[in-house]
Formats: sequence, C-alpha cells, structure tokens
Amino acid sequence: MATYLVTGGAGFIGSHLADALLAAGHAVRVLDDLSTGRRANLDPRAELIVGDAADGEVVRDAMRGVAGCFHLAAIASVARANEDWAGTHRANLTATIHVLDAARREGAVPVVYASSAAIYGDQGHGAIREDARPQPLNAYGADKLGCELHAAVAAGVHGVPTRGMRFFNVYGPRQDPSSPYSGVISIFCNRLGAGQGITLNGDGRQTRDFVFVADVVRALTTAMADIKPGAAVYNVCTGRETSIMQLAETIADLLGTSPAIGHGPARIGDIRHSLGDPAKAAAELGFRAETPLATGLAATLGR
Ligand code: NAD
Ligand code: UD1
Repeated sequence: MATYLVTGGAGFIGSHLADALLAAGHAVRVLDDLSTGRRANLDPRAELIVGDAADGEVVRDAMRGVAGCFHLAAIASVARANEDWAGTHRANLTATIHVLDAARREGAVPVVYASSAAIYGDQGHGAIREDARPQPLNAYGADKLGCELHAAVAAGVHGVPTRGMRFFNVYGPRQDPSSPYSGVISIFCNRLGAGQGITLNGDGRQTRDFVFVADVVRALTTAMADIKPGAAVYNVCTGRETSIMQLAETIADLLGTSPAIGHGPARIGDIRHSLGDPAKAAAELGFRAETPLATGLAATLGR
C-alpha cells in the first residue's frame, strides 16, 4: 500500500493514528522528538525517526517518498505555551512551515494537520461553525491559527493540498495524565481510578465537546483519502457538550466510587463553553464522531 509520515506519531493521538494506518496495511514513518511522546506508545512495525520537526533538513529527509503527511507534532498544552511563548512557537508554527515546505519540495505531498478549537477562543453559547471569526486567546491558539494561514499559502502558492483538523477536547487511552497540564479526562480517570480526590477549577459548570481518539483518527484518515487540491478546515467534534462536573460524576459512576470532589480557583483564561458544530465535516467528508462519552470513558478506564 502507501507509506505515510506521521509527525508526533509517538504521542497520544499520533500513536493511535499509526496503529490505524498499519492495520489498514500501510507503512508508517514517524518523526518525533520524544519530548512528550514515548517509544512505548508506538507499534514496533512503525519506523521511528527521533528528530525535531522544526529542523528543515530532518523534515525533508522524513518526507522522502511518502504518499501523504499527517502533521501532529506540537506542544499541545495551552499552559506551556503561556509560559514558554517563543519555545512553543518553534514547535507549533515553525515546524508546520518546515513540514509544508518539505511537502512542496517533495512534489506537493498532501498534508493533513492538527489545528485546534483553541483558534476560536470564547465564542459564547451555541455550536461553533468553521466560519466563526477566529479569536485565539493564547499563544497556542494563535500558533494553530498561523498553521491554518500557512496551510492556505501551501495550497494556494505551492499546490500542496492541505486539510486542517480543528480538534475539540480529545480523550482516550495513552493520554498522559502525569503533568499538571494534562487533559482533564486523563487526570480524572487516573486520580479517581486510584481512589484519590479531584478538583474542579471554578464552579465546574464550564463545558467542553469531548471527542474520543478513535473518532479523531477516523477524521484524519477520511480527510487524507481522496484528498483534492486546495486548503480546507474542519471541526472534529461531537456536537454535544458536557460540563466538567457532569464529567466527574460520569467517571465516578463508571468506577462505582463516590469521590471527594473539591473546588479550586477558576483557571486564568479558561474558556467557559466550547462546543463544535460537526455539520461541515459530515457534509464534505462524511465524518461523524460515533463514540458515546460513556463508551469512550469506559475504554479509557480499560473496562
Ligand atoms: P502529545 O503531546 O501526546 O503528542 C504530540 C507529539 O509531538 C509528542 O509525541 C511529542 O513528543 C511530539 N513533538 C513535540 N514537539 C516536537 C518537535 N519539535 N519535533 C518532533 N516531535 C515533536 O499530544 P496529542 O494530544 O497527541 O496532540 C497531537 C496534536 O493534536 C497536536 O498538534 C495538538 O496540538 C493537537 N490537539 C490536541 C488536542 C487534545 O485535546 N489532545 C486538541 C486540539 C489539538
Ligand atoms: C484542551 C487541550 C488543548 C486544545 C483545546 C481545544 C489538553 C491538555 N488541552 O484545552 O490542547 O487545543 O482543548 O479545545 O487536552 N479542569 C478541572 N480540573 C482539572 C483539570 C482541568 O476542572 O483537574 C478543567 C479546566 O479548567 C477546563 C476543563 O477542565 O475548564 C478542560 O481542561 P483541559 O482538559 O486542560 O482542556 P482545555 O483547556 O479545554
């Protein structure tokens, strides 16, 4: 079949994507600096290049001979982007430009890349469509929006087909729970599973659109299949919102525990409501997220 490059393929989402590509009979080459990703996440059948996606030569070598590139390498934490503005910019935007440039030099290799709901900022209530005016509230979101702008340049000026996938809150097995910047579901599953209490930041009524990693992988592979020239962006979301309080209760129910749920201060710059409109991805890609939250949470808990 074909060979695909997956940048960030030793990470949470990338390693699930590598599994799916291998299962479909493709060859997988991963470029990852193992900063947050782990070799252990990766199927040994995948080729692993340990290197920096912001190094043009490294990316050029990795791009040779591939049928398509999934660009997922990034520093995925909003909090780290706030602290290390310039350092995360290198991983989150400079690397993307090197990937797009290498794709053009290799003969317009199609690129499907991870954008984020963070480009929207706070849009108030209601499901957000792709044509909402972007207003990122932090460096991470600004860099993801920058990726989209450069991806449009790649398509318009250099003929590189690109698809930007605006992931909402992704969860599932292998999401690292160990850092204070980890995703809320990985933290709650890890702590509640170990009989420890959890903290809701603020009143716990803030909401998120949680999308299971297997659905995200399907969105990525669907966007790559039969990719046409041009640039497009899609929400990758369920269209359902869950409050952080409801989330804690659902996980506790699945575990059959009644944990200590405390309240801490609201996180500075926390978005109040984040809900995606999945209609464009459904209409244009035929993609719909299918995994109910309880099913995805049970899989995350290993049940
Ligand atoms: P992750 O941290 O598990 O994966 C990112 C991978 O990129 C890691 O393996 C890391 O080692 C690698 N990496 C980082 N900098 C690199 C560099 N300079 N060169 C090479 N490799 C590098 O995070 P994830 O949740 O799997 O995120 C994957 C992508 O999805 C990222 O682009 C992230 O911004 C985006 N995203 C994630 C979410 C979410 O909810 N998890 C939401 C929106 C967007
Ligand atoms: C997440 C992603 C980010 C992505 C964005 C897109 C992670 C780590 N971050 O940010 O990469 O671009 O979605 O929508 O996946 N919370 C608690 N208690 C905790 C931890 C978190 O109450 O112990 C709350 C937070 O304050 C927040 C919500 O849970 O209100 C979700 O937080 P988090 O999982 O960190 O994700 P986002 O900030 O939405």
